[in-house]
Amino acid sequence: MASIELAPPRLTGMRALWHSTIGKKAVVAATGLVMVLWLLVHMLGNLKIFFGPTEFDAYAHFLRRIGEPVLKNSWFLWIQRAVLLVVLVAHIVASAQLSIRDLRARPTKYTGKQRFEATVTTRYMRTGGIVLGLFIVWHLLNLSVGVAVPHYAQARAYENVAQDFSLWWMNVIYIAAMLFLGLHIHHGFESATRTLGYHRPTRARAIKITGDVLAVAIAAGFIVVPVAVMTGVVS
Ligand code: HEM
Repeated sequence: MASIELAPPRLTGMRALWHSTIGKKAVVAATGLVMVLWLLVHMLGNLKIFFGPTEFDAYAHFLRRIGEPVLKNSWFLWIQRAVLLVVLVAHIVASAQLSIRDLRARPTKYTGKQRFEATVTTRYMRTGGIVLGLFIVWHLLNLSVGVAVPHYAQARAYENVAQDFSLWWMNVIYIAAMLFLGLHIHHGFESATRTLGYHRPTRARAIKITGDVLAVAIAAGFIVVPVAVMTGVVS
């Protein structure tokens, strides 16, 4: 008896885009770029620590209170957190699904030099992504909740950071995570411009330089804070 093959249901619009490989890549690229911008602002804000406790604590307080005359009770902070969470979750889910698709689709394993070239960047991105995901959880527990910070007080952001980085192992965690972050941006930026259709041979050099400058500036800008505490510049 002849069997009838049923065609898979056709998806349309945004659902079709989300289910397609290019749609998922676009989500990873766009959310990655949003996070790079947010990280640049976070890194620049952290540098206020060099202006002393009053400036830094006032800045941390300001961040929690933006928009208060319009939106009562730190609503802006919660809106920002919600947006950031959606962006982060979309980035992680889409890139994990792409990785699973890629691993399933590969019929034979590459060998030798070919394998090395094809997978080294992908491996950096996957391992780096997992490390950064774990770091974000640790960072929030550490500096937003106060885990491992003796005498933690949310209003005294300067003191929390200074106490935090007086522990050697904390410096190791943060500096290692920042190096992973730099590598992740270094590899991800150029790839995002390709996915979003912005990459052209004439722009290749400018895109490479922009990605490298962003990667180094963001990683180094974050790393100077623990280094400043270790060397006594911030205490
Ligand atoms: C040396 C490096 C860093 C320092 C000193 C630092 C410091 C801080 C401080 C003081 C806060 C505010 C905590 C609070 O008042 O609740 C914070 C929040 C945060 N940081 Fe960082 N940070 C660093 C790196 C990073 C990196 C690399 C990421 C992401 C990959 C990150 C993501 C966040 C997030 C998501 C928040 C929560 C924002 C919120 O509560 O709305 N930070 N950080």
